[in-house]
Amino acid sequence: MLQVSKRIKKTERQKQSANLTDYEQTYRSFSWKDAEKDLAKEASYILNAAHIAVDRHAQTFRKNKIALYYEGENGEKEKYTFLELSELSSKFANTLHTIGIDKGERVFIFLPRIPELYIAFLGILKIGAIAGTLFSAFQEKALIDRLSNSQTKIIVTDAKLFPRVSHILKDLPHLKKVILVERGAKNVPKHPKLLYYSKIMEKISSECKVRQMKKDDPSFILYTSGTTGKPKGVIHRHLAIVQEHVTAKWVLDLKEDDIYWCTADPGWVTGIAYGILGSWSNGVAAVVFGGRFDPSTWYKIIQDYKVTIWYTAPTAIRMLMAASDVSKKYDLSNLRHLCSVGEPLNPEAVVWGQKVLGLPFHDTWWQTELGAICIANYPCMDIKPGSMGKPVPGVTAAIVDDKGNELGHHKEGNLALRPTFPSLMKSIWRRPNKYKSYFVNGWYMSGDRAFRDKDGYYWFIGRADDVIKTSGERVGPFEVESTLVEHPSVVEAGVIGKPDALRGEIIKAFIVLKSDVKPTDALKNELSLFVKKHLAGHANPREVEFIDKLPKTRSGKIMRRVLKAKELGLPIGDTSTLEEY
Ligand code: WT7
Repeated sequence: MLQVSKRIKKTERQKQSANLTDYEQTYRSFSWKDAEKDLAKEASYILNAAHIAVDRHAQTFRKNKIALYYEGENGEKEKYTFLELSELSSKFANTLHTIGIDKGERVFIFLPRIPELYIAFLGILKIGAIAGTLFSAFQEKALIDRLSNSQTKIIVTDAKLFPRVSHILKDLPHLKKVILVERGAKNVPKHPKLLYYSKIMEKISSECKVRQMKKDDPSFILYTSGTTGKPKGVIHRHLAIVQEHVTAKWVLDLKEDDIYWCTADPGWVTGIAYGILGSWSNGVAAVVFGGRFDPSTWYKIIQDYKVTIWYTAPTAIRMLMAASDVSKKYDLSNLRHLCSVGEPLNPEAVVWGQKVLGLPFHDTWWQTELGAICIANYPCMDIKPGSMGKPVPGVTAAIVDDKGNELGHHKEGNLALRPTFPSLMKSIWRRPNKYKSYFVNGWYMSGDRAFRDKDGYYWFIGRADDVIKTSGERVGPFEVESTLVEHPSVVEAGVIGKPDALRGEIIKAFIVLKSDVKPTDALKNELSLFVKKHLAGHANPREVEFIDKLPKTRSGKIMRRVLKAKELGLPIGDTSTLEEY
């Protein structure tokens, strides 16, 4: 069991300046109904997440406040006020309306982190359509799975990514149009399905009637991976913004004068819930950096924009730790609160923050399916480095056995939540049974193993299934395996997450080759690149091993846990279902 390390104690001043000062009191008196009423008390209130996030601020003193500071990968800079974001997204909404897109239809955004991504997302929500986001690292196989399953009507992309889309158009019979963001592209592609962003936005009105939604109406869809099968479409509803709003306020501690930087891409739920909805609904100025990770560039962003609140991920923090000296060259003194999410945050990373940046990282825990932070270290709470913190007010968590019976303190079990908070997914797109399978004895089962200590802090142990977390990205082993078997040299593939000090886990593939194929290092490399090229940049196996036979159950299912045990030199465990190996 995890050692409970020394606490990082908060001073009285730190506790009092935090948005949430008396955790215990708030926990007792909290109700989601009140939180909802609080957001709804404005005269102009419309239940629509885009209105709550941005439009309502355009009618107040925040109208001319900068909502978005954008810096592109080549250093190009732009600013957008709340009013500008509101008007541009209304234009986009009107465009969709003109094309004939209606409530509930899917519109997917396949863009790098540029302002048009944010504008399009808000515009889609305004007409009541369902916004889907796709990482720009996705390749054709990943795109087909998501775009055809969701029967998307529109794809918004740019000139650089369009070739990947154009190759799969024949597989997307429901697609009406592709909106292409030109953004100074030298060679603007031509195709009968294309509409050009700058042209459509030029002529259309910036006023639109934002659609009043019902609480359960879907707002966005995000595909995420499980152990088996294709990625599944997690559907979130408009009401989720209530939880995104209050957690952004209390956990991230967003206040009027903050400059906030969430490093997550909106292809990931964090980049939506805290890069668009919950952050802007608090009226905060947000920084979006479109470039790649690099220690100097990241520190420069914090310095140049005087970032005060920073929400990032453990792999990035560990990469910064490896380049600790670089931090000394930059003025990072405006930082006042740091948070992390996505994978286990090791105690060393929390302590490094305290030592080098003068502030500890506050871990937060949640999942794509949960839509908003559910367990966290609050600004006012002492931190136990290595712990994910405590449930947020309004969320009831427990450690339960496989039948959903609660376990006591310090007992390892399944981390489970009562499904009574507004940001919990509403459904899994066209897979009602999959949705039902998450619930056992009235608990939402997260798939994570954890324990709770006597003070109520939760400690992460690992996944209960084979889902891989590499650099914070969730990757399904089945997706990687089914890509690998498409390679002409491969008969079978078994894929696992192998512990890695920097990336949390790396993807390792065990491959059975066709009998006439030579097992060379060059082939290992080729297989890794094959996944990168056909599935996604981040899903490539960094390690490939050739093997004569894969361990399988008698019914033919690959037993990844046996591969993992073998890799780590651990006992194989129960092998009663294993065929002869
Ligand atoms: C899985 C969910 C919600 C944005 C994050 C990614 C792991 C998440 C933590 C944490 C240890 C964590 C879990 C979880 N995870 N946060 N603080 N400590 N593990 O969402 O891609 O759906 O992944 O990420 O295993 O189940 P996601």
